Amino acid sequence: MCGIIGYTGSSQALPVLVQGIRLLSYRGYDSAGVAIWQDGSLRIRKDKGRIEDLAPRWSPDELAGTTGIGHTRWATHGVPNQVNAHPQHDDGETVAVVHNGIIENDLALREALEADGVPLVSDTDTEVFAHLFARAFDGDPVAAARHLLEACHGAFALAIQHAAMPDTIIAVRRGSPLLVGVGVRENLVASDLRPLVGRADAVIDLGEDQIAIVTPDDVRLFDADGAEITAERRPIDHSERDIGKDGYPHFMLKEIHEQPDRIYELVASRIDPKHQRVRLEDVGITDEQWRAFDRVDLIGCGTAFHACLYGAYVLEGLAGIPSRALMAHEYDARKPHLDERVLAIAVSQSGETMDTKIAIQSAVDGGAHTLGVLNVRESVIGRTVNGVLDIHAGPEVAVASTKVYTQMLCGLLLLALRGAQARGTGDGLLAEIAPALKRLPDDVRTVLGRFDRVREAARDVRRAGDMLFLGRGFDAGTALEGALKMKEISYIHAEGYPAGEMKHGPIALVSREVPTVAIATSGPTRERMIGNVREVRARDGEIILVATDGDGDAEKLADFVLWVPEVHPLVAPVVNVVPLQLLSYETARLRGCDVDQPRNLAKTVTVQ
Ligand code: G6P
Repeated sequence: MCGIIGYTGSSQALPVLVQGIRLLSYRGYDSAGVAIWQDGSLRIRKDKGRIEDLAPRWSPDELAGTTGIGHTRWATHGVPNQVNAHPQHDDGETVAVVHNGIIENDLALREALEADGVPLVSDTDTEVFAHLFARAFDGDPVAAARHLLEACHGAFALAIQHAAMPDTIIAVRRGSPLLVGVGVRENLVASDLRPLVGRADAVIDLGEDQIAIVTPDDVRLFDADGAEITAERRPIDHSERDIGKDGYPHFMLKEIHEQPDRIYELVASRIDPKHQRVRLEDVGITDEQWRAFDRVDLIGCGTAFHACLYGAYVLEGLAGIPSRALMAHEYDARKPHLDERVLAIAVSQSGETMDTKIAIQSAVDGGAHTLGVLNVRESVIGRTVNGVLDIHAGPEVAVASTKVYTQMLCGLLLLALRGAQARGTGDGLLAEIAPALKRLPDDVRTVLGRFDRVREAARDVRRAGDMLFLGRGFDAGTALEGALKMKEISYIHAEGYPAGEMKHGPIALVSREVPTVAIATSGPTRERMIGNVREVRARDGEIILVATDGDGDAEKLADFVLWVPEVHPLVAPVVNVVPLQLLSYETARLRGCDVDQPRNLAKTVTVQ
């Protein structure tokens, strides 16, 4: 979603801001802009479009200054156009503001401003900040920022400039993440770490309702009462710096290929083979708590929701706790019954997704024990829950999630094994699963080595208008995830179903023009899957089959077989999704789509 960058130092701000915008663009955006202080005024340039097209139009001579703010906008309040792009400003252009998040009471604030004769020119809620700050500013930026915190409800991260403060950026955070990057004689402000890497040596995470006054040589931090507080700096560690494509043409392909190493690290760090135990002490759920839980709610959106589907199967199947996967945006509407015997798990890559945040907050309020299965521990959700299981996937840049999904599956399986251990339902289970988990990185590597076969299938499906994806049991979620990947990046209309649903509707769509991808690897659901495949075949449907090495029926039934190695059924979804990731990647590439930044999508959705 939207991204913030700010710079104050001795270098020209424009190139730093443009580079920052490029590095933030993975979040998805439709407009971008900058404001730079020059000769006592703020020069603002902004418009709809991509940074590659906008930056050449921004003249370094007209934007010569060493302090500025920049933004990538993903439209929520108002269409993407020049006026609605950020920075927003007051009528005199003395204040420029970039904003991530949402003001919930913006209509009331707009009306009050208009009643006072303030002309509002954009449809954005952000413009309100600019007017309120300008009117409250009497030389003290902290007081004006505190006024924003008092007047505005909602979640927001802000970087603000005032024409009267040449080398100063005012940063304000409520709900949405905001960082200050500390460099040598220069400091930055950003909504995430990526634009800071390479420039900053350390970061300061702004806390809830904190205000930072950032100048080239100083960062001063204040709380909502205006009291100055100590800014805790943390160094940027090596893994956080790792943001290149490593020679891959796209981040998505790079991230798909990172899966074996990430899985290895997660599993190796969490399984104690000597004592045959899963080690999740830091997650903070005691054996007693595990035994007391009588329900698990797994909450997520998009790919994370598909991981929840798997999580519910394994938590119920292995730990014996009734478990359900729920879309975060539907959670509140159910009015779920909550108490301390409910374990509510927010599954989220970013830890910032607003729907997931709201759902887990209501679980907190209802007294449930809450856990985040997250890729960003220091996130909004990470700070809301009782404990975090960090899936350690590393930064994922491509909008379409791949390595994070398989890490979520592994994390949830480890959690289920831990639950089974504590509840005494897992006798001999770890001894059975541990070797499968140990081999899992190699099994995924084997599938990655078979990309050529996937390429052939992609050449075939690239012309399809519609596709079906089918799976059962643990792989029902794999089917949904395969379809989501395909539609997200190739724009082919794809539907995923638990295969049992086939005869209740989707089978009406089967034809030669609608390829069906069926996951029928060895395990308890294979026979029934083969039954579904035959039904499709009988209606002349084209079939791409994910099948286990050595399956004698596969070639006879399918137009293309995507072979995977024999693995334990509990870990099969981790292996089986990989050919589907590659298939969507290659299909999108052949169709000339923007693989890493598909249209209309944002990596992190911080609005409801
Ligand atoms: C967006 C992204 C998806 C992601 C979903 C949930 O829709 O485009 O790739 O799965 O948000 O994000 P989260 O950060 O909570 O996992």
